[in-house]
Amino acid sequence: MAHVWPIGGGKGGSGKSFITSSLGRLSAELGKKTLIIDLDLGAANLHTLVGVPDPQKGFSDFIRKKIPLLEDTVVETPSANLFLISGAHDNFDIANLSYEQKIRTLRAIAKLDFDRILLDLGAGTSFNTLDFFLISQNGIFITTPEPTSVENVYRLIRSIYFRRIRYCFNVTEFKELEVEADRQFGDGSFNRPDSLMKVISRTHPEKYTQLNIEFDAFRFKLIINQVRKHDNAALGLQMCRMMDKHLGLNMEFLGNVAYDEHVHDAICQQVSFLERYPYTKTATDLREIGKQIVESAGRQLTLRYM
Ligand SMILES: Nc1ncnc2c1ncn2[C@@H]1O[C@H](COP(=O)(O)OP(=O)(O)O)[C@@H](O)[C@H]1O
Ligand SMILES: [Mg+2]
Repeated sequence: MAHVWPIGGGKGGSGKSFITSSLGRLSAELGKKTLIIDLDLGAANLHTLVGVPDPQKGFSDFIRKKIPLLEDTVVETPSANLFLISGAHDNFDIANLSYEQKIRTLRAIAKLDFDRILLDLGAGTSFNTLDFFLISQNGIFITTPEPTSVENVYRLIRSIYFRRIRYCFNVTEFKELEVEADRQFGDGSFNRPDSLMKVISRTHPEKYTQLNIEFDAFRFKLIINQVRKHDNAALGLQMCRMMDKHLGLNMEFLGNVAYDEHVHDAICQQVSFLERYPYTKTATDLREIGKQIVESAGRQLTLRYM
């Protein structure tokens, strides 16, 4: 199975698509056969960022079964080694994918033959977005330094863990777990994945072991984008520590990406920022992070419910 890197964040405009397209290009340049998939349906614009203004096919053709195989919806981009599944012609929201469509998509992604697959996921915490994060241990979260964006990322990550725990239990069992977490650890503890896990370790030891193995394998990663000179450069590391302390979750900080007005210029001129402005701090930051994606060689998770 290819390395799948779901990329998301709680807020629109934080730079998910810009970062996905940039990391895709870098991975391709470094010799990996790379696919980027636009799953921000309804707000899809990845095609424009990688120089494919009018893709002739895309994800919606697979969903509507016009093209039976997901691999046949792949289009080339002007960059060698970089391929795209576009969301350009999707006029429905990803949140509206049916269960059957979602499982079909998840299975099809798992079978694609690429070295790296980057998923540009929409903002928010719809179940579909959470499930796309759960197909890989390599989820990347993008936030700006603004507290509103940071808060949304926390919520998204917590929701992903809850979604995974939720899969193991029926409605009544899950309710019982929540009540028990609040009883043992204080009101509101049902909202903390680590409190729920402590309860599960006693009430359902086998499920606990399974979940623990999966959560241990998670290598969720954080990128802070649009960092300006006066912003707190240590925010990323602080967020990772908070995540550990308050939610009991592992997260790795990949780095800051500097704010640069030229990003806007490059997008407006429809040229690659990395090619046009290679000597900027932003480009250097992106290359550092791109290297980490290419060099990583971890095991891939396979979802139980797939
Ligand atoms: N590092 C950056 N520096 C300056 N502007 C940026 C940067 N990253 C993103 N932007 C700006 O933010 C806008 C939104 O980015 P985009 O990738 O479309 O966000 P998202 O996909 O999260 O909604 C871009 O059009 C660009 O103008
Ligand atoms: Mg986007």
